[in-house]
Amino acid sequence: MDKKVHELLNAQINKELYSAYLYLEFSNRFKADGLDGFANWYMIQAQEERDHAMLFYTYLQNEDMPVTLEAVAKPEVDAPEHMDILKAGLNHEKYVTSLINDIYAAAYEVRDFRTMQFLDWFVKEQGEEETNANDLISKMKLFGSDPRSLYLLNQELAARIYSAPSLVL
Ligand code: FEO
Repeated sequence: MDKKVHELLNAQINKELYSAYLYLEFSNRFKADGLDGFANWYMIQAQEERDHAMLFYTYLQNEDMPVTLEAVAKPEVDAPEHMDILKAGLNHEKYVTSLINDIYAAAYEVRDFRTMQFLDWFVKEQGEEETNANDLISKMKLFGSDPRSLYLLNQELAARIYSAPSLVL
């Protein structure tokens, strides 16, 4: 495997674990404020991010490439209001999309078609992640300021259940 592609794939393990950590902190914030449904939604999001990390980890191992695990940074959440947390989530997903695109571009440059095929799942997944984050912001805009509506939205988010990723390596 090309050195740069390998480095980027390895770094992505850490980025996905950081994403899990960040969403765990979001969950923590909502839980502290009594919004259990939002807390559940981000808890499941954190589980999904851990799954993403494991996919990069397993892909490198399957390719017989070394995996180096680095320290996961403290999640920094500069978001005083609930809406700020949701917006931070969307911004983070856009950032992750840019990282996936960077790996894809590096793989494309060296004609690493297998890595490109592996990344195809993530390209699609990032589209869904951004849509989900956007939807959450739209719903909060519509319903967040009315306590009864916020209660119902919280209930809707409480119903989210975890499902394992559709990509199996
Ligand atoms: Fe692993 Fe939310 O992207």
